[in-house]
Amino acid sequence: MKTLKGRWSLVTGASRGVGLHVSEGLALLGSNLILHSRTLAHTESIASKLRALGVQVFAVSGELSDQRQVDSLLDAALSQAGQIDVVYNNAAIMTPHRSAYFETPAEDYRTSFEVNVISLARICNRLVPPMIARGWGRVVNLTSGIQDQPELSAYSVSKAAVDKYVRDLAPKLAGTGVHMNLLDPGWLRTDLGGPNAPNDPSSVLPGALVPAMLNDGISGRFFRAQDYAGMTLADALEKALAK
Ligand SMILES: NC(=O)c1ccc[n+]([C@@H]2O[C@H](COP(=O)([O-])OP(=O)(O)OC[C@H]3O[C@@H](n4cnc5c(N)ncnc54)[C@H](OP(=O)(O)O)[C@@H]3O)[C@@H](O)[C@H]2O)c1
Repeated sequence: MKTLKGRWSLVTGASRGVGLHVSEGLALLGSNLILHSRTLAHTESIASKLRALGVQVFAVSGELSDQRQVDSLLDAALSQAGQIDVVYNNAAIMTPHRSAYFETPAEDYRTSFEVNVISLARICNRLVPPMIARGWGRVVNLTSGIQDQPELSAYSVSKAAVDKYVRDLAPKLAGTGVHMNLLDPGWLRTDLGGPNAPNDPSSVLPGALVPAMLNDGISGRFFRAQDYAGMTLADALEKALAK
């Protein structure tokens, strides 16, 4: 499991939920980390905890609905790490539940696309070309299995856009050493998923690490973290390779 040791990973939305567990999982595999949230204070204690595992950890902040802040957080991440080898585009917002779904305001779509799609693409625009130039990189873009819920359409169509983005880019990455894949963490009891979700947030591991660990040269895959819940990482990787 040498793939991630000594690499630099950027995890957006690392302060809680999926991002927190992914960051811990990456640190345990020896990856150095750039932890993102909207406020540095949100990742302070996590950074200390992960440093104790023997990896380097820096924190950056930025509101992802503001593209200037996206640029600034990337400037800060790159000046601290030198390079980013792995990115988990994990941070996202869930728009309000609209029972009157034909009255969903345009603002829901605008904000959701700004945070969940446009920032993600901007981060990829900045980080993927250098990965290609170095011949190695992993991009894991968080998506969702949400369907048939028009009450949350501003959120769900933003995730459909992420799926399309990844699938259209995937053929261009063939042979570059850079993988870009999709990860559905499953419905989890996080702030975004709410208290009625069936799964504990910790159940994203080890599945969430699979797309960063595989060396199969394939992009555009849709990984479901819950397919690997309760497994060891080694077994999860074997299962993913067999698919
Ligand atoms: N939970 C689920 O059931 C579920 C299901 C399917 C897919 N997903 C996907 O999994 C990913 C993680 O979800 P989660 O449940 O872990 O979410 P979460 O618990 O709500 O955490 C969201 C993270 O994103 C950051 N964030 C939120 N809004 C932001 C903004 N406007 N700009 C910058 N950062 C922002 C938060 O940072 P702060 O500390 O600054 O608030 C936090 O670290 C998302 O892409 C989500 O769509 C989740």
